[in-house]
Amino acid sequence: MKKLKIGFTYDAKADYKLLPGESPDKYAEFDSEETLSQIENALKSSGHNVERIGNASALLQKIAQGKRWDLVFNIAEGVKGRNRESQVPTILELFRLAYSGSDALTMGITLDKAVAKIMVSHAGVLTPEFLEIEKLSQLEEFEKNFKLKYPVIVKPSEEGTSKGISPESVCRNFDEVKKITERLIYKYNQPALIEEFITGSEFTVAVIENDPPFVLPPVQIAIKGNTDLGEDFYTHQRVENDDIKYICPAEIPHPLEEKLKNISLSSYKALGIKDFGRIDIRVDEKGTPYFLECNPLPNLGLIDVFPLVAKAIGITYDQIILRILQSALKRNNLI
Ligand SMILES: Nc1ncnc2c1ncn2[C@@H]1O[C@H](COP(=O)(O)OP(=O)(O)OP(=O)(O)O)[C@@H](O)[C@H]1O
Ligand SMILES: [Mg+2]
Repeated sequence: MKKLKIGFTYDAKADYKLLPGESPDKYAEFDSEETLSQIENALKSSGHNVERIGNASALLQKIAQGKRWDLVFNIAEGVKGRNRESQVPTILELFRLAYSGSDALTMGITLDKAVAKIMVSHAGVLTPEFLEIEKLSQLEEFEKNFKLKYPVIVKPSEEGTSKGISPESVCRNFDEVKKITERLIYKYNQPALIEEFITGSEFTVAVIENDPPFVLPPVQIAIKGNTDLGEDFYTHQRVENDDIKYICPAEIPHPLEEKLKNISLSSYKALGIKDFGRIDIRVDEKGTPYFLECNPLPNLGLIDVFPLVAKAIGITYDQIILRILQSALKRNNLI
């Protein structure tokens, strides 16, 4: 085997400091040192050389110093704006450097939940009905003609880690919708997505590789030990405490498992995801799955779902990370 130089791009929590007055969830998506070393060690177990690069600015500096890699393993989330996850892939393409994961266009499409929903519905995937509101005046036009069925959930259209999602996000009348929409637009400085709330259960499905993508066993979300969520849901606070548990493999009937795998595969393909991704799904009380969103940069750390899905298919955490690396190397004709 030829020993390759693998660069590693990421946004580490430790590289950013909250300024006074900034929201404590500002850097919630970034990776801890623990996660970074788990991934780094897994990559090293391939026998290739691994070099930490850091964020988009560090990448630019190293490129300016003349550094190059055979492939960059990218998990950088970026700091600001809806193109933030697209920045590292764009830089790497500009300098013709191979990288793992989705390209800039897919990162942009998936970061904007409304755009992702339009893309998957075009491919025949069911997703809750929604409205995207940039300014409150736009919402007022819908006051007499609000077609969405209550309850609805109001969430930021371009965030992750359940940022901006709290018990108050579920609204049962137009006044509540107005209040939460106004608050979100102001706090997150981006459009609000108003979406029909799917009462039922929740799953997240990891998919890896390409041609063909490999759909991993669905992971079921339990909140306070309960999988029959009804109107309960994930909030940013719950991500930070211990209310949420992942159950894998999910204890569900085979036909539902098949439906979850199909919707995940169709979404992965429709959005152009490469090498790895994770699709969030709600299932209504009739057993119909709805696409909520897709993460082309899901958390790969030991605290998240990847170690669980690896175990469910009888492989180790390191092996699943290596399968992601291998699929990127293969796609770039490096193996
Ligand atoms: N339409 C909906 N119906 C029911 N629950 C919803 C809906 N939209 C969001 N939720 C709840 O809010 C949570 C977070 O929403 P979503 O996945 O869209 O945001 P996110 O911040 O990108 O998520 P993540 O934490 O996966 O990064 C979901 O996991 C789900 O529990
Ligand atoms: Mg989600």
